[in-house]
Amino acid sequence: MKLSYLFSKDLARKMILVHPPEPRKELLLSMPGEGIYLGKTRFLHAPVFWDHRKLINPHMAVVGITGSGKSYLVKTFLTRAALIWNSNALILDWVGEYDKWVRQAGGRVIDLGKERLNLLDLVGGLPKSSRIKQIVSALDILVDLKSFPRERDEIEEALEAVYGSKKKANLSDVVRWLDKKKRKKAARLLKRFTSEGCDFFAGDSTLDIKALTSSGLVCLDLHSLPTEEVRSLAGLTILQYVKEIMRAEGAAEEAGVRLFIVLDEAWKIAQDERSEVIAIVREGRKYNFALLMATQNPTDMHKTIFSNIGTIFVMRLVLREYRDYVRTSIGYSQFIDNEIGKFGVGDAAVNMIFARRQSKINTFLMDKIDGEEPLFLMKITGDGMDIEVEREQLVKMLYELGLTEDQLGLIKREFEKTDGLMDSEQFVAMLEKFGYSKSAIISFLRQLGMDERNLIRTFSLVKMRKATKGLVDVVLEE
Ligand SMILES: Nc1ncnc2c1ncn2[C@@H]1O[C@H](COP(=O)(O)OP(=O)(O)OP(=O)(O)O)[C@@H](O)[C@H]1O
Ligand SMILES: [Mg+2]
Repeated sequence: MKLSYLFSKDLARKMILVHPPEPRKELLLSMPGEGIYLGKTRFLHAPVFWDHRKLINPHMAVVGITGSGKSYLVKTFLTRAALIWNSNALILDWVGEYDKWVRQAGGRVIDLGKERLNLLDLVGGLPKSSRIKQIVSALDILVDLKSFPRERDEIEEALEAVYGSKKKANLSDVVRWLDKKKRKKAARLLKRFTSEGCDFFAGDSTLDIKALTSSGLVCLDLHSLPTEEVRSLAGLTILQYVKEIMRAEGAAEEAGVRLFIVLDEAWKIAQDERSEVIAIVREGRKYNFALLMATQNPTDMHKTIFSNIGTIFVMRLVLREYRDYVRTSIGYSQFIDNEIGKFGVGDAAVNMIFARRQSKINTFLMDKIDGEEPLFLMKITGDGMDIEVEREQLVKMLYELGLTEDQLGLIKREFEKTDGLMDSEQFVAMLEKFGYSKSAIISFLRQLGMDERNLIRTFSLVKMRKATKGLVDVVLEE
C-alpha cells in the first residue's frame, strides 16, 4: 500500500516537473574503465561518461567566460584519460596556465622560449614540396600571404632554393636569400618571425615532436615566445607536424584515445578553415587522435570546426553575440540558452553527436563537472611559521565559514596566481573585504593552526597596509 503510494507520488512529481529531455541513459553510461566520468545530468541525475566510440568523433570544444571552469574540465579529462587509457596529451598552452598543474601531475613542461623549432624540418618523412606548401599555407593564415601573390611566389621560390642549397636550412636562411635577391617586401613579411630577440625559428630544432606525442602528459608553454604571431606560427607548425605523425603511424587499433592535443585559447589557428585543425578534426577519428579546444570566445573556432565536433561543453556564457554563435552552430532550445547565462562555476550544457544517431536529443544540462585535481597544498605564510593546508580542506573550511562561491573563487585564484602561496596579511585582507569581523577571522586562523605571535603580527601588518593606503586612520588599538 505504502509502496504504491510512493510510486504514484514519484510519478506525479515527474509529471509536474516538466524539464527538457535528456539523452537515453544507455548513451551516457559506460563501464568505469571504458569511458571518462564527468558528472551527472541536471534533471534525471544520470551519470555522464564520455566514450568516443559512441560519438561521431573524439574531438571536444569547451567554451565559457573566464573562470567558468574550462581548464578545470580539461585537467579532469586528461587525468582520467591517462588513468584508464594511458592516453598521452600535448597541451599547447598560450598563456602559461597549465605548467604548474602538469608538473604536479608528474608531466613534463617545455618552455618554448628556451627551445628552437626549425620550420623547414621534414617530420614524418614529408617530401620537401609538401612541406613548402604547408609553410606557405601557415603564412596564408597568419600574415595573409594570399593578398601578396608576388611575395607569395617569391617566398616559395626562396624556400625551394634554400632547401636545394643547404643541408640544414632554416627560416633565417630564407630571409637572407630574399634579401640578397633584393626581394625586400617578401623578406619583410618573414622578418617578423626572425627578427632580434626571436631566434625561435632560427637554427636546428631542439624539439622532437614525435617523441613528445607519446610521452605522457606534456605541456608546451608558448607564453614566453615574443609575439602573438610567433606563438601562432609555432602552434600551427606543431599541429602540422602532429598531423604528419598521425598519418605516418596509421590507423589505430587500441580502444582508447592515443593522444589528446589541447588548444587552450586557440586564437587564430582554429579560426581559419585552411588550418590544420580542420584536417585533424576530419582524420583524427581514424587514428584515435583527439583535439580538445578551450576558449573564452567561441567565434575563435570556425563554424565548420564547431559544427563537426563530437562533444561541445558550453559553460557560462554572457555575451549575446557569443551565445548566438554557439546556438546557431549547434542548435538547442531557448531554455538551455537562458540557463547558460545563469550557470555557476563548473556547470555545463553538453552537446554530443552520437555516432548512430540513436538520439534526437543532443544537448543536455549537467550540474557542476565532478572533477578532480591532484592534491594541492596552499600555504599561508607568516613569520617563521607557514600554515600548510590541502586546498579542498581549506575550501571546505572557508565554505563552512560562509563564503559564497564567488568569494571562494577569488581566494582560489589568488592562491593560483602565486603557486599556492599567500601572505597571511593578504589572506586576512581578503576576508575583511568579504565583511568578516576581526574576531571571526582570528578564530578561523586559530582553527587553521596559527599561533598567537603570528596572529598579532599578521593583524598589525594588515593595519599598517591599510594606513599607508589611507583607508583608515592610524589609531593604535588596545
Ligand atoms: N567543476 C568544478 N568544480 C570545482 N571547482 C571548479 C570547477 N570548475 C572550475 N573550478 C574552479 O574555478 C576556478 C576557475 O576555473 P578555470 O581555471 O577552469 O576557469 P577557466 O574557464 O579556464 O578560466 P580562464 O578562461 O580564465 O582560463 C578554478 O579555481 C577551479 O579550480
Ligand atoms: Mg583556463
